[in-house]
Amino acid sequence: MRIDKYLSNANFGSRSEIKKMIKQNMIELNGKIIKNGKEQIDLTKDIVKVNGKKISLETKRYLMLNKPQGVISATKDSSQPTVIDLISSKDKIKDLAPVGRLDKDTTGLLLLTNDGKLAHELLAPKKHVIKTYHALVSGIVDDSLIERFKNGITLKDGTNFKPAKLKILSINKENNTSKVSISISEGKYHQIKRMFKANQMTVLTLHRLSMGSLFLDNSLQPGAYRRLSSQEINILKNKK
Ligand code: URA
Repeated sequence: MRIDKYLSNANFGSRSEIKKMIKQNMIELNGKIIKNGKEQIDLTKDIVKVNGKKISLETKRYLMLNKPQGVISATKDSSQPTVIDLISSKDKIKDLAPVGRLDKDTTGLLLLTNDGKLAHELLAPKKHVIKTYHALVSGIVDDSLIERFKNGITLKDGTNFKPAKLKILSINKENNTSKVSISISEGKYHQIKRMFKANQMTVLTLHRLSMGSLFLDNSLQPGAYRRLSSQEINILKNKK
């Protein structure tokens, strides 16, 4: 990778600022002041110093995507668009992958990172990271359903879903639909859809709002993403 591109991606300044820094002899590669931003660097072994200070070339990237409908939560696919296709080349770094999956038609918060350790911790069943969704479902949600969700749902095939918190947001009697908020601590395949299906209801739309302490930035349009702030990264790492 070009050293100027690397440094601007790593937030040391814009490309033109980096150019100035190079002119001012502030950038060193393997002990030599560089004169040209086009110099290539090898992230696995080169030593880069900015203003005499060694910088870490290992880059961890944490992105918050407002996943739109119609893309799959995978890194590549031979026929369908994936969430990685929504990421610009400057953020599309090696090993970037979604943390868990949302169904193709589910929208909302999806974290992408190349920090495998954090991804693993957020997904580990014993960590019980709470995920909260808004759903539009067919039928009228009532207190008895809230109670059933609270006690955990068991499917006919024996699959067990842990207790979930269901709240009614609004009821539309004319359309026979309900808007609800649902919080679950697992991430089983089609979990929310299967929980409602077991109660003769269909999930019409599903949108994730939060994962642990990370909330979807509601200024992100569907398909848009941003890097997490260092504060958000710390919150995720420390409290989950
Ligand atoms: N539950 C589902 O059914 N689908 C999702 O995408 C997420 C949770």
